Amino acid sequence: MEIRIEKTQNPKEKPQDESKLGFGHIFTDHMFVMEYDTGKGWHDARVVPYGNIELSPAAMVLHYGQEIFEGLKAYRTADGSIQFFRPVENFKRMNISAERLVIPEIPVEDALQALHTVVEVDKDWVPHTDGASLYIRPFIFAADPFLGVRPGDKYYFMIIMSPSGAYYSTGLEPVSIYVETKYVRAVRGGMGFTKTGGNYAASLHSQDDAHKLNYSQVLWLDGIEQKYIEEVGSMNIMFVIDGEVVTPQLQGSVLSGITRKSVLELCKKWGIKATERRISIQEVADAYDAGKLDEVFGTGTAAVVSPVGHLRWGDKVMEIGNNKIGQLTQRLYDTMTGMQYGKLPDDMGWIEKL
Ligand code: COI
Repeated sequence: MEIRIEKTQNPKEKPQDESKLGFGHIFTDHMFVMEYDTGKGWHDARVVPYGNIELSPAAMVLHYGQEIFEGLKAYRTADGSIQFFRPVENFKRMNISAERLVIPEIPVEDALQALHTVVEVDKDWVPHTDGASLYIRPFIFAADPFLGVRPGDKYYFMIIMSPSGAYYSTGLEPVSIYVETKYVRAVRGGMGFTKTGGNYAASLHSQDDAHKLNYSQVLWLDGIEQKYIEEVGSMNIMFVIDGEVVTPQLQGSVLSGITRKSVLELCKKWGIKATERRISIQEVADAYDAGKLDEVFGTGTAAVVSPVGHLRWGDKVMEIGNNKIGQLTQRLYDTMTGMQYGKLPDDMGWIEKL
């Protein structure tokens, strides 16, 4: 694929204090853009200065939400080189989302070429501080000016990038999670397994309610019985019950997280029993009451491995591990970030160098 590169004449000042990056506020100097038209396919791949885009007010994405996205990171290692964590998995998943939303797929090798090219142009934006990284957001949306409901004929694929710190302002401090019993995020047969904006829009009301009660995230239950645990929305969830890691199985309504998959693979390698199965919130509460709920943690690209300190289900508030990070959670965090930042050998074949 040929990619045209147009560099900015007005490079921005890079953040001086990398401890204050926050998440997703700051954008680099460039972005990747490629267009799709029915009959022509994907065309005009380019890296251009980061900036606003012109869109018809009738653009289909604004009305019917035909949009998908991904999230991955570029990490700087101690020797200054830059690397990605399993980027192939992101672009494979992007095509799975694309298929569900009738969006034209992008060959994984083309998406990877776009990723490498745009990060190479903005490589000086990859933070130098431990825990900070360049968060990368590829996305595709339908842009035809048309008010009828049908799949688009015109799409944009873009990649924007944001030097970021921890997703949660609390860093590695345990997060408090509120179990949602009124609304649901997704149902089987719906779009829960895709990364599409609508899934996140569906979560906002509950997230607001949770914030009012001083909980930072919402844990979703299944859309039919509201009994079985699904995911948090910004991350998958795992429970350590009596030494065994249990996480909800993927059955169409849960996102197939790359960190989730990696954690399961690490547990297998370490000889820790890790099971994907249906798990009800009642089972978690019972394990808590029996003193067997050892640890709870979330997994996600943005969240990495994030300890859960409090879980509230109705009137029941469970404090997990004295609101401190658990042993396995810490080990997984150290191993994942160790590989990502090049401090530990990549014995799983997960690292791709820029
Ligand atoms: C990610 O972990 O990269 C995501 O896309 C989740 C998002 C809520 C930040």
